[in-house]
Amino acid sequence: AVERTLSIIKPDAVAKNVIGEIESRFEKAGLRIVAMKMVQLSQEKAEGFYAEHKERPFFKDLVGFMTSGPVVVQVLEGENAIKANRDLMGATNPKEAEAGTIRADFAESIDANAVHGSDSPESAEREVSYFFSAEEICAR
Ligand code: CMP
Repeated sequence: AVERTLSIIKPDAVAKNVIGEIESRFEKAGLRIVAMKMVQLSQEKAEGFYAEHKERPFFKDLVGFMTSGPVVVQVLEGENAIKANRDLMGATNPKEAEAGTIRADFAESIDANAVHGSDSPESAEREVSYFFSAEEICAR
């Protein structure tokens, strides 16, 4: 089925100047970018986004990292987009990510891991609407 998923290019990848290279991987895989913006997340916005991790020991560092510089937030659309995006990203920990994945190629650590992608249809729906209103998503 055609799905939509939320993707974030994290501050480490933006700082490395590889936004285009990462977008290119999505496009080459047949995913369409149907919404996108560059934003500096506030602490409150980052905490709300990662609310499910609130009790985890890495929460504070995660929020600190995600607010350390601008991010690119986008909605990717395509056949099985949620899994397709996660396959392109590779494992959360870049040391475990398969060769040729975004994290294997651009990420340094489990914190600075270049990209985020929704992990289920439920989180995709929540995450897309956390960042984008209906009018900001363009049918293509
Ligand atoms: P992300 O997909 O954005 O979702 C939560 C983030 O927390 C994850 O990517 C990692 O960057 C970060 N993180 C840090 N430590 C851990 C951990 N032990 N397990 C999972 N995620 C972690």
